[in-house]
Amino acid sequence: MDTAGPAGGSSMTTNRRDYLKVNQETWDAWTRYHLGSRFYDLEGFKSGQRSGRAGLDALEAALLGDVAGKSLLHLQCHFGLDTLAWARRGARVTGVDFSEEAIRAARALAGEMGIPAAFVHSNLYDLPTRLGGEFDIVFTSHGVLGWLPDLAGWARMIARFLAPGGAFCIIETHPFAMIFDDEVEAPALRPRYPYFHAPEPQRVERRGSYAAPDAPIRSITYQWSHSMSEIIGSLLRAGLRIVSFDEYPFGGWAMFPWMAQRSDGTWELPPGMGSVPLMFSLLASKDESHGRGLGAAEAPDPRRGS
Ligand SMILES: C[S@@+](CC[C@H](N)C(=O)[O-])C[C@H]1O[C@@H](n2cnc3c(N)ncnc32)[C@H](O)[C@@H]1O
Repeated sequence: MDTAGPAGGSSMTTNRRDYLKVNQETWDAWTRYHLGSRFYDLEGFKSGQRSGRAGLDALEAALLGDVAGKSLLHLQCHFGLDTLAWARRGARVTGVDFSEEAIRAARALAGEMGIPAAFVHSNLYDLPTRLGGEFDIVFTSHGVLGWLPDLAGWARMIARFLAPGGAFCIIETHPFAMIFDDEVEAPALRPRYPYFHAPEPQRVERRGSYAAPDAPIRSITYQWSHSMSEIIGSLLRAGLRIVSFDEYPFGGWAMFPWMAQRSDGTWELPPGMGSVPLMFSLLASKDESHGRGLGAAEAPDPRRGS
């Protein structure tokens, strides 16, 4: 993030939909640059060798096991690379994203590569008005939660689209790693951003994007923090059962400019900096008993007072 701070002043009257609209426009603009970026390595993906992805690909495949023949819903799929990667492993895939540019590119890519895939243009929170049915797997990964103002609604969406007995899988940047200043040039972990959620987002203004830092655009985004307990709690309250949870001392991208790349393409802190969790994965299931006595009401949050 280049600059960040709570969205204040006039933002108090800003509707959540307005924040999401700004984000959507930014994602549309970013997508045009991401398609040709080294970060996404589209040509490498087409040839089956996307650079820097060996570690993440192996982890994702190990988490979900054999997906052949299973229906998979990919939330916040961007322009569909990971969606199509699941299709290549045999899943019957549907990707969802609120960026029209991204969905257009995903459909074109699937057509060009001859990979069967459905892509739905929708805000995550509106998905039931655009898509029906239930899926064996709901998947989401790498840079998704910070765009969402409401994890309770997110988790309800996952529960809504998971078939009984189905599995939810998320691999995401660890929220603890997100508190540190990402503009410090020399290796240092300096707390800067909030760990706990607040209804008002952080306003972030930057040049380029995480994947195309030299893109000649300045963009504004609104982002929300979500603690680990909020992530896990929202899934539990939606009636899901946590099957596995892991934290990793490496991540999928260089969230700090001074990180070191490992041989499998993932990124870690340089030697001598100790270890902090940089990424997590979580698997949850929707039991056949879903909806019968599960999904307790949200407990009061002592941090918010009475
Ligand atoms: C970092 S990308 C997704 C990660 C993906 N694994 C990747 O790296 O290509 C985040 C995506 O979330 C989408 N997004 C953000 N807010 C959304 C919302 N409210 N509803 C649907 N999609 C959203 C953006 O358009 C973007 O494509």
